[in-house]
Amino acid sequence: MTILGIETSCDETAAAVIEGQGNQVGVLSNIVSSQIEIHKKYGGVVPEVAAREHVVNILPVINEALVKVGITPSRLKPHPTLSKFLPRRMIRGGEGRSKSGVRRGIDAIAVTVGPGLITSLLVGVETAKTLAYAWKLPIVAINHIEAHIYANFIGRQQKINFPAVILTVSGGHTMLVLMKGHDKFKILGETRDDAAGEAFDKAAQLLGLGYPGGPAIAAEAAKCRMSPRPDFGELSRTELGTKANVECRINKLPRPMIKDKSFDFSFSGLKTALLYELTKDPLRLAEGEASKGWKRKISQYAAEFQRAVSDVLVDKTIKAALKYRVKTIMLTGGVAANQELRFKLEQKVKQEIAGAKFLMPELKYCTDNAAMVATAGYWRAKRKDFTPWQKLKVNSNLELK
Ligand code: KG4
Ligand code: ZN
Repeated sequence: MTILGIETSCDETAAAVIEGQGNQVGVLSNIVSSQIEIHKKYGGVVPEVAAREHVVNILPVINEALVKVGITPSRLKPHPTLSKFLPRRMIRGGEGRSKSGVRRGIDAIAVTVGPGLITSLLVGVETAKTLAYAWKLPIVAINHIEAHIYANFIGRQQKINFPAVILTVSGGHTMLVLMKGHDKFKILGETRDDAAGEAFDKAAQLLGLGYPGGPAIAAEAAKCRMSPRPDFGELSRTELGTKANVECRINKLPRPMIKDKSFDFSFSGLKTALLYELTKDPLRLAEGEASKGWKRKISQYAAEFQRAVSDVLVDKTIKAALKYRVKTIMLTGGVAANQELRFKLEQKVKQEIAGAKFLMPELKYCTDNAAMVATAGYWRAKRKDFTPWQKLKVNSNLELK
């Protein structure tokens, strides 16, 4: 089954074509047009600007995703007289020829319908409707969080064993999800205020590191050597690079809600704690923000902040995995691109949960992309979970069910 995925929930315009067979999904094309450069000057995503960019980019991005796999979009329409002689999938999906010469059509369109920025979502959803109407294709409505979860199903040959617990950490969401099967999700806990990615973005702003904050903080933190961590064994020596010559001496940020019994998170207090430390830092007060010493100190703050966020995320994920006796632990979302979080969670799963499998997506499938949307769409399409274009609606607060 071949699925065209469309994603426009935030500031990435993305389209992808995937081919699914049994438990395996292969990505044939994956095009992402990022608006980071545009939103950088505002220090975050401006919804109106994002929507306008999606309008301009959506068709070129979809076109590129199709052309890359040998599908000519202009031919993607059922021919009224030919259709009765063509194989079923060609009638519904039109024609195309891959590099290997195999004829290829599209069997369904999967599109993100929420949660996200309403005007951004509308661009993807209305485009999907139009294409489905013109090409007579079924539509699969996808929840953005579900799509992030399915980034872990890309390229897998073996079945993923359930129950699974998934730490979903992005710019808009931070959640622990229990997945008992392909359409069985239960939210175990979520953030009560800022999402983890949002916390990285706000902390980076306080540290003067720009947008998006996650990669900026990670890069700054990598300049800094952390003191050994007996609880992470070997990892403590390698987690932030041995070449770093600045030692992190900051040890003052809290680990919010780490002792709380719930699986909820809270990151806004951590940002305030960072602001408080920065404001009263004696080095800044004595030498000023332009000094070399302060620049080194910024790396230390970045490293300590990254460690505080990842400590809480890892701790709660392990507790949830143990409580629900899961067979698989997954990490996903934009913040899953963070190397410290990736290493730490993998290490802790190995140390503490015998026999469980740990999965995380390749870096390019962590941040928003349409391959993950198409992959989620494939699993729904297998269950014939389609939505007629007339009934397809966006929902900026869509819940995972
Ligand atoms: O999943 P995503 O692309 O968009 C949403 O659905 O929100 O996630 C974007 C978020 C941003 O907040 C960004 O700062 C964060 O992911 N991020 C990172 C890293 N790369 C992206 N956070 C920490 N470390 C990274 N390497
Ligand atoms: Zn996302």
